[in-house]
Amino acid sequence: MYNPSENRYDNMLYRRCGKSGLLLPAISLGLWHNFGNITPFCVQQSLLRTAFDNGITHFDLANNYGPPYGEAERNFGIHMERDWRPYRDELVISTKAGYDMWKGPYGNHGSRKYLMASLDQSLKRMHLDYVDIFYHHRPDPDTPIEETMQALHDIVRSGKALYVGISNYNAEQAEIAIKTLKNMGTHLLIHQPNYSMLNRTAENGLIDVLANEGVGCIAFSPLAGGVLAGRYLEGFSADSRAMHDPRYLRPESITDEKINIVRKLNELAGKRGQTMAQMALAWILRTENITSVLVGASKPEQILENIKVFENAEFSDEELAEIDLILGK
Ligand SMILES: NC(=O)c1ccc[n+]([C@@H]2O[C@H](COP(=O)([O-])OP(=O)(O)OC[C@H]3O[C@@H](n4cnc5c(N)ncnc54)[C@H](OP(=O)(O)O)[C@@H]3O)[C@@H](O)[C@H]2O)c1
Repeated sequence: MYNPSENRYDNMLYRRCGKSGLLLPAISLGLWHNFGNITPFCVQQSLLRTAFDNGITHFDLANNYGPPYGEAERNFGIHMERDWRPYRDELVISTKAGYDMWKGPYGNHGSRKYLMASLDQSLKRMHLDYVDIFYHHRPDPDTPIEETMQALHDIVRSGKALYVGISNYNAEQAEIAIKTLKNMGTHLLIHQPNYSMLNRTAENGLIDVLANEGVGCIAFSPLAGGVLAGRYLEGFSADSRAMHDPRYLRPESITDEKINIVRKLNELAGKRGQTMAQMALAWILRTENITSVLVGASKPEQILENIKVFENAEFSDEELAEIDLILGK
């Protein structure tokens, strides 16, 4: 039987998610990798338990996380029964739909038909009555935004999700989505963009739109899948993502140029008395407009390392300028 740490809320920082009543941990855990059928159940369990024992109250899923699609939610349903049922009200659980999930014209994109059916399937797989946050996973240029937002609005009204969010929308698309939903009477809680030292696209207007509209922002892949954790500074180890599960992190995408950048950043992290991963997370959390960083982990020790980000989360102007210089900004 799982007995969570009594001290689990002592060291985590909780940040308000935009203009809402919901607080999210500054570090959240994503189940994109390491929760499918290629990861032992006991490893998954220790990742979730380590996270919660240290105040990480937010677990993020999507319909097609696996492998195979649906498997992370199916496994989470088993974890739910074994560990989490008594702590449901201490957790913020999210899922998404928007990418390919099942065959035929109704298992992808942004139609009402797809979103409604997908959420029902996710709830069954996870053994939940509701999720805390349901996301539209990516913009769909072919479905009228009114239809997608109406589906999100109705999902909140149905009680199957307490809040709704969007992911991978650019600044302009996000602004339209936020306003469309607002006109229906629902506040968009959160946006989930890719944001890290190696991907600063969100700085081109998106973060400002979200701040102006009172929408929270949770940065996904803040460690660029491990590259910004210094995972590849000493070469490609067999247990790294690029080697053991390279579906979305191809070894050839980890170029010498990127490694050289990380090497320089890593030196600065050393001077700051922290690890590369800790500095990469602190750098994202430097602005309060980011509610949370959504990390992945293959080992519990990585979570324990990452939560120590708060030991040095401040940057001097000189350090920020040096980072910009290294990143070529
Ligand atoms: N909305 C979207 O479209 C979208 C897309 C992608 C991700 N996401 C969300 O974001 C979450 C996180 O994505 P991600 O897994 O790519 O995040 P990430 O935090 O950038 O990468 C996680 C990986 O970095 C390595 N790592 C983490 N901490 C480390 C440490 N302290 N030392 C060394 N290595 C460390 C591990 O890789 P190894 O396996 O090499 O150990 C870990 O699996 C996902 O689970 C998902 O919830 C959303």
